[in-house]
Amino acid sequence: MFNVEMYTGNREKNYELVKKQLHALIHDEKNHIANLSNAAALLNQFLDRINWVGFYLIDSNGELVLGPFQGLPACVRIPVGKGVCGTAALKQETVRVLDVNQFPGHIACDAASQSEIVIPLVKDGQLLGVLDIDSPETNRFDELDQQKLEEFATLLIEHL
Ligand code: SME
Repeated sequence: MFNVEMYTGNREKNYELVKKQLHALIHDEKNHIANLSNAAALLNQFLDRINWVGFYLIDSNGELVLGPFQGLPACVRIPVGKGVCGTAALKQETVRVLDVNQFPGHIACDAASQSEIVIPLVKDGQLLGVLDIDSPETNRFDELDQQKLEEFATLLIEHL
């Protein structure tokens, strides 16, 4: 059984703890679907004020295709360059959107989503996919979230 532990009040310490928990979950396992599924479930338990967290992965045709996630059923395919996910994939850099209604081309999978962060997963220079997190609140993700979620993604990539 796995318990998601959290400190109260210190976001930085909490992110360090969640990275340790990720390591515990995935360090001994090579299956990508298993590791991505547990990573999505862990973030879903750990992050408050979110309504969707999961992965889009580069498919054989070069598009992003839906991977393991937690939340409402979502759009299955996103071309690189389209929406927030496709933009992060194209630029190979994190895109943090304070208000999705102000992002031209935002793809609304869940009408509740108001802000979003998308972190590309790049291993040895190759784009594997993106980590996408949506919130029902505007301006949910700040620089600390970005920094710590990028560290989370780096740790995850080592096990993909
Ligand atoms: N909003 C994303 C699409 C994926 S859903 O949020 C799960 C986008 O604009 O790329």
